[in-house]
Amino acid sequence: MPVELFDYKPLVFGAGKTAPFSAAEEEILALKKEKNAILLAHNYQIEPIQRVADFVGDSLGLAYKAAETEADVILFCGVHFMAETAKIVNPEKIVILPDLEAGCSLSDSCPADKLAAYKEANPDLYVVAYINCSAAVKALSDVICTSGNAMQIVQNIPEDREILFVPDQNLGQWVAKKTGRKMRLWPGSCYVHVLFTVRSLEKIRTQFPEAPIVAHPECIEMVRDMADEVCSTEKMIGFAKGHPADTIIVVTETGMLHRLQREVPEKTFIAGPTDTCACNECRFMKLNTIEKTRDALIHLQPRIELPEDLRIAAGKPIKRMLDWSRK
Ligand code: 13P
Ligand code: SF4
Repeated sequence: MPVELFDYKPLVFGAGKTAPFSAAEEEILALKKEKNAILLAHNYQIEPIQRVADFVGDSLGLAYKAAETEADVILFCGVHFMAETAKIVNPEKIVILPDLEAGCSLSDSCPADKLAAYKEANPDLYVVAYINCSAAVKALSDVICTSGNAMQIVQNIPEDREILFVPDQNLGQWVAKKTGRKMRLWPGSCYVHVLFTVRSLEKIRTQFPEAPIVAHPECIEMVRDMADEVCSTEKMIGFAKGHPADTIIVVTETGMLHRLQREVPEKTFIAGPTDTCACNECRFMKLNTIEKTRDALIHLQPRIELPEDLRIAAGKPIKRMLDWSRK
């Protein structure tokens, strides 16, 4: 019998009262107008940031918004590769990220020099890069994808081309299974999503036996196989709205539950637990605080800057993705 190392209460998100804006949140709202800034926030950001954002979404939605905006300043509350993507698609704008240290373990698992060496040894591969990678890795890739469009992107690649999928082996494995396309997988992973286990989900399932499970494709295969639906953070909203159940277990970073709670207030959401905790937060996403967000707007710093040749090279596979996803 497995030993229970940790006993924790499930983290339940139901419809709550909306608190009034804090002083820092009010300042952000005023500063956005003064500086003609748009605040784009990822679904994993803390609730106060999500509340003052102009748009909250997944990597794909954020990339489209960044490409389309007419604002002078893009304040990006997410992680570095997301803000970098915003700069690549909109170079004339000022792009600021509240904390430049907000990185990503998945992005770090594929250094550009290693990918360049692999490509040199295997020159005929068609490289599909998950958007969670650096500009230098994007520049070495043929097309970018997000978890929201990965299947559609892979289905667009000519059948006679062998695919190398970087950097997430879990997302790549999921897409390979769904599309039937054979792929080489880069051995990277997200340190947050691999913490969900069969044991942690079995435990929560016993506590909420009627609740369906929705999981992010960055989870490991055995966890994905336990889920009723596997999808990007944005598609989780549609799943929650469309499913008849009134309680849903959400297996991704816990910030997602704020968005779900706001968009689907009539339902209850249970945070997918790990073996040691009722929640699962990305330490990089959580580096952005409301105070750092306000200060970034005041000083228009720290900025994302890129050498122009790198920006142009990284922009090509992003543009290909945006074009293919619109089809
Ligand atoms: P989404 O594109 O589904 O929002 O995922 C981004 C991410 O970083 C997942 O860990
Ligand atoms: Fe990267 Fe994982 Fe954090 Fe997403 S949750 S930003 S993939 S480390």
